[in-house]
Amino acid sequence: MNDFSKDFLWGAASAAAQCEGAWDIDGRTPSIWDMAPSKKIKNGDNCRVSCDHYHHMKEDVALMKKIGLNSYRFSISWSRVIPEEGKVNPLGIKFYSDLVDELKANDIEPIVTIYHWDMPVWVNKKGGWMSDAIIPLFRDYTKVVVDALSDRVQWWIAVNEPSCFIMNGYMQGAHAPFKHNYLALNKLTRVLMIAHAEAVKTIRQYAKLTPKVGLSFATSAYTPKAETVEEIEYARKQTIEEGPGLLSNRWWMDPILAGKPVQAYGIYHINKKDMPLIQTKLDFVGVNVYSSLNYAEWGGDKKPSCGIPVNNMGWAVTDDVLYWNIRFIYERYGIPVMVTENGYADNDWVCLDGNVHDPQRADFIHRYLRGVQRAVKEGIPVIGYQYWSLLDNFEWAEGYEPRFGLVYVDFVTGRRILKDSVKDYKKIIESNGTCI
Ligand code: BGC
Repeated sequence: MNDFSKDFLWGAASAAAQCEGAWDIDGRTPSIWDMAPSKKIKNGDNCRVSCDHYHHMKEDVALMKKIGLNSYRFSISWSRVIPEEGKVNPLGIKFYSDLVDELKANDIEPIVTIYHWDMPVWVNKKGGWMSDAIIPLFRDYTKVVVDALSDRVQWWIAVNEPSCFIMNGYMQGAHAPFKHNYLALNKLTRVLMIAHAEAVKTIRQYAKLTPKVGLSFATSAYTPKAETVEEIEYARKQTIEEGPGLLSNRWWMDPILAGKPVQAYGIYHINKKDMPLIQTKLDFVGVNVYSSLNYAEWGGDKKPSCGIPVNNMGWAVTDDVLYWNIRFIYERYGIPVMVTENGYADNDWVCLDGNVHDPQRADFIHRYLRGVQRAVKEGIPVIGYQYWSLLDNFEWAEGYEPRFGLVYVDFVTGRRILKDSVKDYKKIIESNGTCI
């Protein structure tokens, strides 16, 4: 029996900084990632050209069509649209407007992420996510995007993975803007959550088509060791209440989705009086899921060891995580779920026969989608699955080594090759999930 809804969004995801390139043309100004010091990125790489999707846009949409996608999640580069405070760049708007037209002409539903980590340098100079000044700036930027695209775009994600860019970028210093300040967690969380709420209000206020709005969380679940009541309850606690799940999930989700303040880590807490500014009604929860919390660096209880399948980021392949993640989150918040990222990185290369053989990725897609299928069969409203990523691309501090794409990219020539796993994904999409 096929339980996926007939309008299930089968897609692939990307982010501007990771694939667009064209960092300094047509009026764009640099983002914090364009200016990352080379010693911070593996092999001294940078994202200034990457896949040059800016110049390959039509070709890339044609590839999506070939794969059979009915949706595509992409993000907007803030500094392409607003290169300096108060100035809108018509050529930047034109690029995204053309992309949306091209997608619609190919029956591919656009899902727009407004912020996927590439803060303009000019915003960073004003304090970035450390300063309240970003709240009106982010709201104005959102309005510009909504005014330009919402006559054709219905699906919106204001922010991608707050926990990641806050913790990696401002606390651990591994991502741009490379700050180290563990004591800033509370302040960062508050600013981000208020800015997010304002952006969602702006989308709802100005959108021309009735919007469907979500937030993509970097989330994961602790998976039960056995399907007994005790083990499931233990896993739920580890996913939400305590242990590794507290910072991965509850810290970010409870205030936004349920208006509940979180008290944790002594001095860090989100204040109850801020809840009306933070709680946001969302149409779906976006979950970006890769590996289970049982293997989390912080608070997990296992380390991937020899014999355990891992991707080339060192993340364990744990196919049951998607089911448990969707289930625990739906049971707690009761909001439809979209898998806005899930994918497998490998060291793919072009074989002597000219093709890119990636059996592990095909197997990964089947395995993880079985978890989605189980959730759907149990009646959980899962509305889409966006494979990460469409193209091999710039993997932040890891540079170009991990290849997550359904499409292989030669970063010297810009040439694209569909990987073998596309055949599997295409069949799954064509059968609307019956051949998972
Ligand atoms: C991010 C992507 C990233 C992917 C793989 C997610 O955390 O949203 O930008 O490429 O994971 O690391």
